[in-house]
Amino acid sequence: MTSAPTAMTLTDTEVLRDALGLLKDREQVAERLLDSSARHSFDPDTELDWDAPLEEGKWFWPPELVSLYGTPMWKRMSPEQQRDLSRHEAASLASLGIWFEIILMQLLVRHIYDKPVTSAHVRYALTEIADECRHSKMFARMIQKGGAPAYPVSRLNHNLARILKSVSTTPGSFACTLLGEEILDWMQRLTFPDERVQTLVRGVTRIHVVEEARHVRYAREELRRQMVTAPRWERELTRISSGEAARVFSLAFVNPDVYTNVGLDRRAAIAQVRASGHRREVMQNGARRLTDFLDEIGVLRGPGRRLWRSSGLLA
Ligand SMILES: [Fe+2]
Ligand SMILES: [Fe+2]
Repeated sequence: MTSAPTAMTLTDTEVLRDALGLLKDREQVAERLLDSSARHSFDPDTELDWDAPLEEGKWFWPPELVSLYGTPMWKRMSPEQQRDLSRHEAASLASLGIWFEIILMQLLVRHIYDKPVTSAHVRYALTEIADECRHSKMFARMIQKGGAPAYPVSRLNHNLARILKSVSTTPGSFACTLLGEEILDWMQRLTFPDERVQTLVRGVTRIHVVEEARHVRYAREELRRQMVTAPRWERELTRISSGEAARVFSLAFVNPDVYTNVGLDRRAAIAQVRASGHRREVMQNGARRLTDFLDEIGVLRGPGRRLWRSSGLLA
């Protein structure tokens, strides 16, 4: 008991020293990201061949990453029906991506509102917003080209996010950013090199992976800083709000209308996905890079950790 105050004082000093170093680092990180953006950015409208016909017999998403993969229901489906489900799930994930990017754009605009306008940190945020504008248009074009409908999230999630994007504080915003970016990014890294997949989908995911790596870096560095410098209540709130976001995100990940639209029983399909060990593994593998990082910087503690567990994204 007697050693506790000394230990706390030491920790506080260390925390402060780290914080000052981290803030200086903020401009350097942004400069590097601006440099990389100048060298590797794409205009999807001209970079991809939107007029090329779709390829017969190809997948729209790697089969192993389709929600029903490996379940008894999947095994009873014809190869055509399986590929059709991949087409609908790709449209569902692209719709989720657009929803998410629109939220993110607003979070970024709010993040820079009070920051020095000529700083590299603000210039990079504006660059990222421009990236997301191109991505959302690209995803919308991809959905249209594939011929499956756009899949909005539920009314409830749509409105929950309306609150989040308007009131969330900086660390919470960046934790949610990473949640949306890292899991989809993990899937896209498996998609773009996969020769079984439609060329257009491979092109879309390749562009997204290259540009998204910078976004992940920016959000990680900022969240790391925030978890050192933000007041205690804000750090606590971030733990809980990110856990709640993880829970909502994992439920909203694939819109269940995809099952109905390929002629499957929706309820039975949802039950089989929930019971699928393969699916659980896919989602946890997709989230691992993120959960390891969040654990390291102290986000996965207390009741927040329980929410992460219940989301199924944390083992
Ligand atoms: Fe994006
Ligand atoms: Fe992004």
